[in-house]
Amino acid sequence: MELRSGSDVVAVRQAVRTWAIEAGFTLVDQTKIVTAASELARNTIDYGGGGIARLEILTEGNRKGLRIAFEDEGPGIPDIQKALTDHFTTGNGLGLGLGGAKRLVNEFDISSRVGEGTRVVITRWK
Ligand SMILES: Nc1ncnc2c1ncn2[C@@H]1O[C@H](COP(=O)(O)OP(=O)(O)OP(=O)(O)O)[C@@H](O)[C@H]1O
Ligand SMILES: [Mg+2]
Repeated sequence: MELRSGSDVVAVRQAVRTWAIEAGFTLVDQTKIVTAASELARNTIDYGGGGIARLEILTEGNRKGLRIAFEDEGPGIPDIQKALTDHFTTGNGLGLGLGGAKRLVNEFDISSRVGEGTRVVITRWK
């Protein structure tokens, strides 16, 4: 899914909600993955200059999961540890998005190169 504007964030939220229901997530787990996805989609637009979200349903035996990758070709993050620290922001936010998203999922993977872009992958298992 394309991430360019606020309406794309709404679309990603809705798609993640639908997929989470499909995967059999509880209401609480649906909300966790939707909230994390929403924060990352926002960052992709606000700091990454836009990008894409890739949604994937995972099946491992009878375990189901939802994985979402956020990719942009923006300026990148010079210090990932710092960016993950609560209340660190280079914008006008609260600086809680990345750390918050990390706490809401089971797997959190971030890679970024200055001048090339950023990729954040989150996974939540049922
Ligand atoms: N995709 C990205 N590309 C470049 N920098 C990013 C990206 N995502 C996050 N950052 C950097 O990491 C910082 C922390 O992000 P985080 O989401 O935690 O906070 P925020 O977006 O500033 O505020 P909040 O999410 O609470 O509104 C950002 O201020 C920005 O400097
Ligand atoms: Mg943010």
